[in-house]
Amino acid sequence: MHRFAPKPAELDPIELASRDEIAALQLQRLRATLERVYANVPHYRASFDAAGVHPAELRTLADLAKFPFTAKADLRANYPFGMFAVPREQIARVHASSGTTGKPTVVGYTQGDIEHWADLVARSIRASGGRRGDMVHVAYGYGLFTGGLGAHYGAEKLGCTVVPMSGGQTEKQIQLICDFKPRIIMVTPSYMQVLIEGFEKAGIDPRSTSLQIGIFGAEPWTEAMRAEIEARAGIDAVDIYGLSEVMGPGVANECIESKDGPVIWEDHFYPEIIDPDTGAVLADGEEGELVFTTLSKEGMPVVRYRTRDLTRLLPPTSRSFRRIGKIVGRSDDMLIIRGVNLFPTQVEELILKEGRLGGQYQLVVTREGPLDELEVRCERLASVAESEAAAVGAALAERIKTLIGVNCRVSVLAPDAIERTLVGKARRVIDQRPRG
Ligand code: DLL
Repeated sequence: MHRFAPKPAELDPIELASRDEIAALQLQRLRATLERVYANVPHYRASFDAAGVHPAELRTLADLAKFPFTAKADLRANYPFGMFAVPREQIARVHASSGTTGKPTVVGYTQGDIEHWADLVARSIRASGGRRGDMVHVAYGYGLFTGGLGAHYGAEKLGCTVVPMSGGQTEKQIQLICDFKPRIIMVTPSYMQVLIEGFEKAGIDPRSTSLQIGIFGAEPWTEAMRAEIEARAGIDAVDIYGLSEVMGPGVANECIESKDGPVIWEDHFYPEIIDPDTGAVLADGEEGELVFTTLSKEGMPVVRYRTRDLTRLLPPTSRSFRRIGKIVGRSDDMLIIRGVNLFPTQVEELILKEGRLGGQYQLVVTREGPLDELEVRCERLASVAESEAAAVGAALAERIKTLIGVNCRVSVLAPDAIERTLVGKARRVIDQRPRG
């Protein structure tokens, strides 16, 4: 047993319950969720009716497969608050994530949802080896993104001292870590690598800091990256998974004693793996798209929400709940650049709105050291002078930074400079980041 692992008595009893007990709880909560959305959310009533299914038809967990999926496009069609299952006045907080175009995807939480979320992030930190009294440095971004506030409330709930640092300002992060001496850091794995380099540059051995545990997520990372961060920073690196539409961070979290993939908190989220092309439910162990139905959410429950994340469901090990394998890719074209989600269509929209650029573009993603770099390649219109290119590029880069939140370099090329795709889909994304 890992020296930081919680003792069985410290866990929520359901974490060690029998599979039968878990299934019974899931079925009861699933029924309630289907009934709640059918009664309160016009979108679900219409989509269930169109599919010819009624909540009363859910007799076993497998019956969920009869119900229609929910996609990001459904959230967009009901922008901003149409997916809420309670009157807006009962929503205590909203968050948002990237939509495929200018409008974000909005999520709403009741006070009860925020309590459950905090409980689950507290459970996640405990699974990662954290406990009451620890100091937790939160370097996920605060704001509409769920990372910062989600981590924050969970750490407080566990009884930790929270340092709400948010992202950026590397030197300040390093100073506060040295002075405050947190035991735990919650941050994207790529930014952790930047911090490690920051310590080294400042002449501080990153292994000599007070940090013992890192809880890393919001973007894909590999076992190789885990090994690197653990060796260079002298910490245990644990994986936290989540997405705004389902809750935020803490939908699943790895256990420090096994580090074998995030454990899904199945008492609150019902997972399925489907074939992304046919929608058929696949058996545990098979790779496909992860789909979640929330079991306890009040403000904005989701039914069979298609995460677009490709992975597998794995059998229980350290807890009674199933795990997910590493996220191996996506079934859509969403990119995650330095922890920020980005759809090519969001950039396309800004390029076309600029007015001096044509519709051809390419996004080239590379990794320079630990950090992802994005180059947006586009073409000036024939009527626009070459001498204007630099200014147009700077203006577009600024818009992308402000509206999408990603730093990038924009190359404004001559008209016709970008290779055209003559057959099939245009190749908009050239992702040269190393894999595996
Ligand atoms: O990234 C929530 C979060 C914040 C998770 C902090 C963990 C830590 P979104 O911005 O909605 O929410 O992005 C969700 O990020 O569908 C995955 O593609 C990706 N993602 C999140 N965690 C992981 C992870 C937050 N541990 C999208 N491994 C998801 C791989 C992850 N990908």
